[in-house]
Formats: sequence, C-alpha cells, structure tokens
Amino acid sequence: MTVDLQTPRPATAARLDDGALDTLFRHPRTARGWADAPVDDDVLARVYDLVRWSPTATNASPLRLLAVRSPEARARLVTHMDEGNRERVRTAPLTLVVAADTDFHETLPRTFPHFPGAKDVFADETGREAAARFNATLQIGYFLLGVRAAGLAAGPMTGFDAAALDADLLAGTSLKSLVVVNIGKPGENAWFDRLPRLDVDEAVRTL
Ligand SMILES: Cc1cc2nc3c(=O)[nH]c(=O)nc-3n(C[C@H](O)[C@H](O)[C@H](O)COP(=O)(O)O)c2cc1C
Repeated sequence: MTVDLQTPRPATAARLDDGALDTLFRHPRTARGWADAPVDDDVLARVYDLVRWSPTATNASPLRLLAVRSPEARARLVTHMDEGNRERVRTAPLTLVVAADTDFHETLPRTFPHFPGAKDVFADETGREAAARFNATLQIGYFLLGVRAAGLAAGPMTGFDAAALDADLLAGTSLKSLVVVNIGKPGENAWFDRLPRLDVDEAVRTL
C-alpha cells in the first residue's frame, strides 16, 4: 500500500474513536513483569516507522534505539541498572537503550534541506547535545505511544547509571542514553496500583 504523506489533511479526518483512545492513553500501564512472548525486530521497525513522523525541532530526529539482545550485552546492561530494575531487564522479552544522537546535525542537510545553514547552527557541541537530549526525549513520548499502538506494553526506566552505560554499550559513538525501556506482552502481576493523575484544572491554565 502506498501512503500519500505529502498532502496535508485536516486533523479531524483522523479523529480517533473512544476505543482507540483507551488503547493509547487510558488502559495501558507501565509494565513490570512479562509474558514469555518474543518481540522481534520487525515489530520494532514498524513502531519506529510510525514514530518517526512525529515532530522535532528543525526536524532533528535524534532518537536512536539500541535493541540489546545478545546474552552478553544483556548481562552488561543489567550491571548498569539500579538494583530494583535489574530483574525487570533480566526477564523482559526485549530491552532497548533509548538514546539521543548528539551528532544529529550531520543528517540535517537531508532532513531539513530547505535551510542549508541548519547544520552550522548546531556547530557548538554543548548546545547541540542539549537540543539532542530535548528532542530525543520528546520522541521517547511518541515512542511509548507507538509501543501501545502496536498492542505491547512498555516499562521505561531512568534508574540506571547513564555514564557507565554510555562508556560501555555506547562507547565510541555519538549517542547518549536517556532511558532504558522494556517491551513486551505484560505477564502476571505486571502492575503496581494505578496512581492518581493531576486534574485538568491543576495542569491547564488560561491567561
Ligand atoms: C521516563 C520514565 C522513567 C521511569 N523510571 C522508572 C524506573 O527507573 N523504575 C521503575 O520501576 N519505574 C520507572 N518508571 C515508571 C513510572 O513510575 C510509571 O510510568 C508511572 O508511575 C505511571 O505508572 P502507570 O503507567 O502504571 O500508571 C519510569 C517512567 C518513565 C516515563
């Protein structure tokens, strides 16, 4: 099937019904225990294929996903996790290191071609890393929704030693880890109790 991604469409044309909104927002939970069902690379590719269309500043698209699959790499990843997160990684069908590419500016001539100077705007390393982290963090939110849309659960974790992980699994790359995410079908006792959220009038103000 060829999909036309050039023609802008009004948002109302794609309005989701309540069931779809339940699937994306209300029903899914942060999973902490897993069923014994694999998550293969095809699923991951399909999720990313959707997620990549969500927006980032200057279309920077700095999100990078590292699927940690080999037993040896998984064992190394576990050592970088906080104690309480280790068993979650050991038992997950798939664990990703989700990272920001601090050299995202290299692809700007392709992803932001109408502004040839875009790459030079990010010549300064400190500003570039901040932009990479901000935009990749945005993309993590999109990614978590993409996982849900694929009928899977995610267990994101920032409880790990990022400096040690980067020096080990991301050594020699321009990537900086932001979050480690378990993905799969939830198993028994996968959840903590549902926590309350802030009400609309606490979070939304009109000036
Ligand atoms: C960025 C991020 C980091 C998180 N880090 C951890 C973590 O290190 N360990 C953990 O057990 N849960 C972690 N969580 C899970 C949150 O506590 C959980 O998503 C939140 O309480 C909502 O739970 P619910 O989806 O079941 O409603 C993290 C979630 C996010 C989004």
